[in-house]
Amino acid sequence: MNTNSQSDGFGDGDVPIELLRKRAFNLRWAEQAADVIPLTAADPDFPCAKVIRDAICDYAKSGVFSYGPSEGLMEFRAAAAVMLQTRKGMPNAQKEQVLAVNSAAKGMHIVAKTVLRTGDEALVFDPVDFLFAHTVTGVGGVPVRVPIDPDSGELDFIAIERAITPRTRLLMICNPVNPVGRVLKRAELQRLGEIACAHDLAILSDEIWSDIVFAPHQHVAIASLSAAIARRTYTVHGLSKTFGLAGLRVGFVHVGDAQRYEAMVAISNVRSTVEGVATLSQIAATAALQFAWPWAEAFVRHLTAQRDLALRQLREVEGLFVREPEGCYVLFPEVRLWGDETELARNLLTKHRIAIVPGAPRWFGEGAKGHIRLTFATSQAVLREGLQRLCSGLRDLR
Ligand SMILES: Cc1ncc(COP(=O)(O)O)c(C=O)c1O
Repeated sequence: MNTNSQSDGFGDGDVPIELLRKRAFNLRWAEQAADVIPLTAADPDFPCAKVIRDAICDYAKSGVFSYGPSEGLMEFRAAAAVMLQTRKGMPNAQKEQVLAVNSAAKGMHIVAKTVLRTGDEALVFDPVDFLFAHTVTGVGGVPVRVPIDPDSGELDFIAIERAITPRTRLLMICNPVNPVGRVLKRAELQRLGEIACAHDLAILSDEIWSDIVFAPHQHVAIASLSAAIARRTYTVHGLSKTFGLAGLRVGFVHVGDAQRYEAMVAISNVRSTVEGVATLSQIAATAALQFAWPWAEAFVRHLTAQRDLALRQLREVEGLFVREPEGCYVLFPEVRLWGDETELARNLLTKHRIAIVPGAPRWFGEGAKGHIRLTFATSQAVLREGLQRLCSGLRDLR
């Protein structure tokens, strides 16, 4: 019995299913039939920390919603810089080099637009979240896939070096890696950083998952490794995964070089007021970064128990191989014995009323084939029901 999380905001009664059916889109409750359990998009089923809700209410009560500063509220940029300094080993992070962005996804887009010209190449893990390749093609660049073993999560450094051409400008890192759940080790990051320096590549390090890490693993920020690496690294953060604020569309990008920062702001369109982040979202994000860490730590404790529950049950299904994730609240089982993963996902949904994400190229790249992804950021009761459907569905469909 997961007694801890039953009492600290992560109990079975804390998942507001009726509200989620109205508000949780992106393949989740609001987009599924009423009898379906969605273990799909990686978005928590729990309401955010009370301290964040209170900050939103306090700010909103005044009714004053004037334009904010174009690069973001200084209190938000400062909270982000302090977070990088104190939690991510980046003592030189500057608030003046933090740009508030409308989601991590938007931050990735702005970085790609700053670094890439039409036809320039960016190295993108395979498998990895679809946003990476999508971001590159969206600005006229060419994503060049570099393999990660989907089962061991190992990087192939020889393939990475070989993939570099005179058109390569950007190395894109996802750490921890969604969907494989690897937390990259210091030595791996050091090697990636050295490759970037040797070939004069900018680095986009998406660290949105960096606080969803399971002991004894520890996240290392690539920008913390050396001044040379920090200068070329755009560190992207969002508030969706750790704090459950996806709908508020808020995140930030820090880059360790003032000129690169200026170029990014110029490209971002924030100075024209065409772009920018809602002040209310920044208020929520500031409260999260300043005060919601105890909530986030309790969330990770709950997730650790959820991960272990899911691993135990899935490993009882004959023929299924599932690696223990070191970070991210997703599992990425190998399901090759079941045939095509998209067909499997369709059958699980229609016959067993459980929605998962197939490891189709569209979602994660060719390297995800033969896998499915499921999230476990829900209550123990919902996860138990979801796993029961998934496991009996898998046994049935084999
Ligand atoms: C690696 C990664 N980056 C970015 C995002 C998007 O984050 P945001 O909601 O802040 O745009 C996701 C969401 O799944 C993700 O997994």
